[in-house]
Amino acid sequence: MKIAVIGCGYVGLVTGACLANDGHHVVCIDNQKEKIDILLNNKIPIYEPGLEDIISNNLINGKLSFELNIDNAASNAEVIFIAVGTPTDEETGNADLTQIYNCTRELAGVLKENALVIVKSTVPVGTCDEIENILNEKNKHQNFKVLSNPEFLREGNAIYDFENPDRIIIGSDEDNIRDVVKEIYKGRKNEQKIVFTSRRSSELIKYASNSMLAMRIIFINEIADLCERVGADITDVAKGIGLDKRIGPYFLEPGPGFGGSCFPKDARALIESGKKYGAPQTLLESVIKGNESRKKNLSKKISEILDIPSENKIGVLGVTFKAETDDMREAPSLSILPDLTNIGLNISVYDPAGMEEATKLIKNVKWVENSYEVANDASCIIILTDWQEFKDLDLNKIKNAMKRPLIYDFRNIYNPDNMKKLGFEYYSVGRG
Ligand code: UDX
Repeated sequence: MKIAVIGCGYVGLVTGACLANDGHHVVCIDNQKEKIDILLNNKIPIYEPGLEDIISNNLINGKLSFELNIDNAASNAEVIFIAVGTPTDEETGNADLTQIYNCTRELAGVLKENALVIVKSTVPVGTCDEIENILNEKNKHQNFKVLSNPEFLREGNAIYDFENPDRIIIGSDEDNIRDVVKEIYKGRKNEQKIVFTSRRSSELIKYASNSMLAMRIIFINEIADLCERVGADITDVAKGIGLDKRIGPYFLEPGPGFGGSCFPKDARALIESGKKYGAPQTLLESVIKGNESRKKNLSKKISEILDIPSENKIGVLGVTFKAETDDMREAPSLSILPDLTNIGLNISVYDPAGMEEATKLIKNVKWVENSYEVANDASCIIILTDWQEFKDLDLNKIKNAMKRPLIYDFRNIYNPDNMKKLGFEYYSVGRG
């Protein structure tokens, strides 16, 4: 099939690359020249494990190409995916649909007869209707269809998630597109898990999924806080509740609060939709408030138990919103690091993938090359993400490098008993 993907971000690039890998002819389009130049040079503008190889192989075999303009690229496509960003509109809290409507207007001029326009971006209910209206203005006599097909890829695991989806949601009011959709997604491990719904249900499924996951995280974080006060252990509590089939074991890891490009933005947008349609999402309002105050209070949590003189040096491991990504959007580090630098602490920071982006956002810290440099002469190390390389550290070497062997681990990556045996003062989340 001839496929065009508009938007070369985390979602668009993974979608385009994986579909090319399946044998489709894919052109990925982005209006940022810098991005296209990087991609044409056989590099990728983001960190996503496995993606660079897939892109490189498919560039070489001619299945994948990159373009700056929609006109040429999309005019030949039978299927066009829209995968541009829908960030939070800072003024309203709603999803900002500027990029969606801009690319739809461009697309309107070049749409091929019988084209399928598939909206992968996360968009509020009714957006596909509006896209269809815009396309209709210029394509009245043409046959085309607009579908909703939200993405559920986790950054850092996106290739795996694309190949092994829990489900593929297709929102369309047309029955006769089913075979085409099956053809697009052929070869997926869970091919049978294609669920057809109305467009509006499909649009809402994405927001409801992310918001429910966000809710679980804030819930387990608050239970972890209680564990600390009452001397219980969150690992056992999470295991105990997760064994109930109705609850399940996933997304019950406490931490510094959720961030990233999806959870905060999607929960906010769902709250706004609730207000607009008179169906208040009060639970989600608390989720957002609780998460924001959690991130704001991270430095307070540290100073509650530690008395670190301001002239001391401390180290931070991990600055992105989670491990296995370079994405800094809504990362807890953006709250904690400015607070700590304001106290006047001398801070060294290391992150395996996020430093290029982080240096633009976090000032007055020293960026170093590895975890052992972070430990050098430090009176405390704060762990903000759970990269495997942090789990694999030579802790004796870390301890010997530190001035005071104290670790505050916001991801519970080490065993408290082991840490005690090794001679660390060790604080983690919800473990007494
Ligand atoms: C999420 C959804 O999982 C994915 O389906 C959607 O399409 C995009 O948004 P992503 O933002 O990449 O993916 O990250 P995810 O792994 O879901 O984690 C989101 C946040 O929750 C991170 O800040 C993470 O650290 C936090 N988290 C996750 C926890 O604190 N505890 C957990 O148990 C799980």
